[in-house]
Amino acid sequence: MLKKFEKRALDILSKMTLKEKIGQLNQLSTPDKHNAEEFKEKVRRGEVGSILMSVSRGTAGNKADGTIDNAFYDEIQRIATEESPNGIPLIFGRDVIHGHHTVFPIPLGFAASFNTEMIKDSYSCIAKEAANESVHWTFAPMLDLCHDPRWGRIIECPGEDPYVGAKMAEAIVKGVQGDDVSAKDKMLACAKHYIGYGASEGGRDYHRTEIADYSLYNNYLPAFRAAIDAGATTVMSSFNDINGQPVTGSKYYIKDILKDRIGFDGFVISDYWGIRLLTGQGVAETERDCSSLAINAGVDMDMDDGCYINYLESLVESGEVDISVIDDAVKRILMVKLAKGLFDDPYCKPTDINWEEHKQKALYAAQESMVLLKNNDNLLPLPRDKKFALLGPFVHEKDAQIGAWSIDRTPNGAESFYDALTKKVPKNQLLTAPRPDIQYDFHYWFVDMADIVILALGEPWSTTGESQSVAMISVTEDQKALIRKARSYGKKVVGVFFNGRPIAMGGIAEDLDAILYAWHSGYDTATAACDILFGDVVPSGRLPVTMPRLASHIPLYYNVTSSGRPVNNYYGQHSNACYGDGVGSPYYPFGYGLSYTKFEYSAPVVEADNLSLDEIKAGKKFKVSVDVKNIGEYDAKETVQIYIHDPVAVMMRPIKELKGFDKVLIGKGETKTVSFELGYKDIGYYMPSGEYTVEKGKIEIYVGENSLTENKTMITVG
Ligand code: BGC
Repeated sequence: MLKKFEKRALDILSKMTLKEKIGQLNQLSTPDKHNAEEFKEKVRRGEVGSILMSVSRGTAGNKADGTIDNAFYDEIQRIATEESPNGIPLIFGRDVIHGHHTVFPIPLGFAASFNTEMIKDSYSCIAKEAANESVHWTFAPMLDLCHDPRWGRIIECPGEDPYVGAKMAEAIVKGVQGDDVSAKDKMLACAKHYIGYGASEGGRDYHRTEIADYSLYNNYLPAFRAAIDAGATTVMSSFNDINGQPVTGSKYYIKDILKDRIGFDGFVISDYWGIRLLTGQGVAETERDCSSLAINAGVDMDMDDGCYINYLESLVESGEVDISVIDDAVKRILMVKLAKGLFDDPYCKPTDINWEEHKQKALYAAQESMVLLKNNDNLLPLPRDKKFALLGPFVHEKDAQIGAWSIDRTPNGAESFYDALTKKVPKNQLLTAPRPDIQYDFHYWFVDMADIVILALGEPWSTTGESQSVAMISVTEDQKALIRKARSYGKKVVGVFFNGRPIAMGGIAEDLDAILYAWHSGYDTATAACDILFGDVVPSGRLPVTMPRLASHIPLYYNVTSSGRPVNNYYGQHSNACYGDGVGSPYYPFGYGLSYTKFEYSAPVVEADNLSLDEIKAGKKFKVSVDVKNIGEYDAKETVQIYIHDPVAVMMRPIKELKGFDKVLIGKGETKTVSFELGYKDIGYYMPSGEYTVEKGKIEIYVGENSLTENKTMITVG
């Protein structure tokens, strides 16, 4: 995609001095108000290539209310294009992760929607809002596969599955960049954090990882490949090390694999102060050494470290860094700036935003993301003529449920759960504690008067996100006590969980009759949850991560390999194997989620069950179809999932691998035939060397409602 800009980029490059080239590799944060003039001088001298748009109210780029000051960025851009030596425009980047002013669900919630069209459309709205405020470039999508919910950043990622990661990557990149990234309402996307950051040992943020190349190619890289195939123009290198090699200083991971092998032709930016971090990681003694490692590894732009601007010139002079390395980095950055259209028109052109439309889309995204985990005796949807006792710390909270990466949110823009409930039933049917901080050992007289108890449980977004790892993958002890207390009244109890991460459901779910997992779903979290609770919307989210019974079962993910000993088959039917002191299977498996209706699946039918390897290699695909019948009382969406298993291969293969999904609306009583086409790219895998292979032999194909489905057929590749 960027190739067509190469000639122009090289032409500009040929006119630049070394100093000016290095300036392009330098990203700086927006200055504080008192050093704005000094900052402008740097831009004038050509020492800045990009601005990381800070979020503090004290910075020159933000107005007193914290919103972005377009006039400041226009002025800086004018200086860059009219007064700096080569007139090269700047790129302004900001973390617009799951919404700009309108806050959408956290990315893990988006993943639970299994609705890629909706995700793409949502990110198109997000891009429009941010682009209106000078943002050219967002540091999204975050594509870190994660098996450990202790990691606070699990909220930002697509979950545990490489296929879902790849689909999210594609949808977000296409939504953010559109077909033409130079359009004024589009932004550059940044696939991050390359790579392996989500595998931080113990879920401790920034911690070490051990990832064998076999797993790297099959699990961690697919989402990045998909982002690049979808046209992602930039990639961010990650803070972590892999097997003792910090990624930001690793030629192997960045230059060899990302750029040379995968063919990424955009530019790589380090993560915040990620270059100087190499000293802390013990692979460099000085910041000069860090700069040498990072640029030689293939990190093209320095995020606010000040390392490149300070040391690259002398590193080139001493021969430690070859000028060709600098030229390549500058060329990549120029190509991206050209692709964004900044050389043609560098200024922001605000247009009218239909805020109401964006609000409706964010509500729809929230509705699509929520997952119904339990619904005994069809307690939900709730009848509107009953009395409800409301308990829990999130009854009156507003912003606590919206999600961690929403820096441009309107404060108190969200509605509380209580307020949203008042739109479904009259206030006199909503019985709630006089004070939200009331003790859980108190006798709630109003529960005696209620028919059904609704508990608003979970965690505030401030306990999720970067540097927010936690050891307790559960609700708090207070909330557990509250669940037991609610149970003791002998009424039906509904638990609504406002969480950013999956939690261990053992000892919690048993005491609840119904469970709605609402995530942190943006401004409309409460409204969407109430729409589902009262049946205005039929739940359709599915888990993109496994819900374990106990935190001590982590890591627990569906696409694991089998040792052959039944004791290790803990994900499926041998559920009581593995741990001697209790059931070790998932509480709720990957892909799981209930509806208000039920679906019946026919056996999958494969078009041709014998295919030659040559045909497959030549591009022949085969169709797998299944009939899905809605046998319940509601029109509803079902996420039909197709998995494969290669029972005999040179390398051990996962017990199941997701290879496709289709979220389809099926009317009550209706049957729909859902078909998938699989081919060469779907049925093989990467060897540890990174070579892709499809072997001869049988492939089991499963089509069903979640990763535990046993509804299968088979093909033979001969
Ligand atoms: C985070 C990135 C983010 C960057 C810029 C870092 O600390 O890891 O995800 O894009 O800061 O704000």
